[in-house]
Amino acid sequence: MKKIVILLVVAGLVATTAMFAIANNGPAEVKLEASMGTVTFQHAAHQGRVADCATCHHNGVDAGKCSSCHGVNADAPKAKKVFHKLCKSCHKKQDGPTKCKQCHVK
Ligand code: HEC
Ligand code: HEC
Ligand code: HEC
Ligand code: HEC
Repeated sequence: MKKIVILLVVAGLVATTAMFAIANNGPAEVKLEASMGTVTFQHAAHQGRVADCATCHHNGVDAGKCSSCHGVNADAPKAKKVFHKLCKSCHKKQDGPTKCKQCHVK
């Protein structure tokens, strides 16, 4: 019984630490690996270009990595499809890169 209580306390601490750890703006730069070549995504710069975090983090910023659902869960469309749709549609409007090799670099 005592052991279980200690385990619960430890689990609680770990969960709290994890909550604080993701209550931030995330990494400045993210490397998204793809067979076409790695996409280097300037996360911090995009936060300046896109006012609302939820434009990309549609389940909230605490939902975890996009790849934890997309390409994994049956109800979530593949990463390629959602990223291309999200990234390219804005780039078309706002003059961002739309050619394959402007994003994918081997
Ligand atoms: C243009 C799209 C976009 C915008 C806008 C954006 N993010 Fe992100 N964010 C991403 C992508 C893509 C990743 C990488 C996720 C992955 O590796 O699957 C990410 C990663 C993160 C992570 C790390 C998540 C993890 O589990 O590794 C945090 C935290 C985060 N973003 C917070 C924010 C906050 C806060 C804002 C608003 C101020 C914001 N983001 C705006 C696209 C965006
Ligand atoms: C907790 C699971 C989960 C996470 C995390 C998640 N998604 Fe999604 N996403 C879904 C599901 C399920 C759908 C399909 C249903 C819907 O549209 O809500 C979806 C739909 C989308 C769509 C719309 C696709 C379309 O065809 O209209 C885009 C764009 C998208 N996600 C991008 C992202 C990005 C970028 C990230 C990371 C910043 C992310 N998602 C993180 C589950 C998730
Ligand atoms: C709502 C608008 C918007 C969304 C969504 C968006 N971008 Fe961008 N992005 C821009 C704009 C605007 C530029 C051009 C900035 C410039 O040239 O000054 C840009 C530039 C870039 C560049 C060139 C390097 C740089 O950062 O200047 C890359 C690579 C890029 N985006 C990748 C992505 C990826 C990958 C996604 C999807 C996860 C994405 N972007 C989503 C607006 C957006
Ligand atoms: C705005 C940036 C951007 C442009 C432009 C772009 N892509 Fe992508 N692409 C991405 C991102 C981001 C991913 C998702 C990487 C991941 O799975 O995390 C991706 C994923 C993919 C994948 C799936 C990767 C895999 O490993 O299965 C393929 C294939 C692909 N892209 C091909 C293309 C081709 C072909 C073009 C040109 C017609 C193109 N892309 C243009 C950003 C871009």
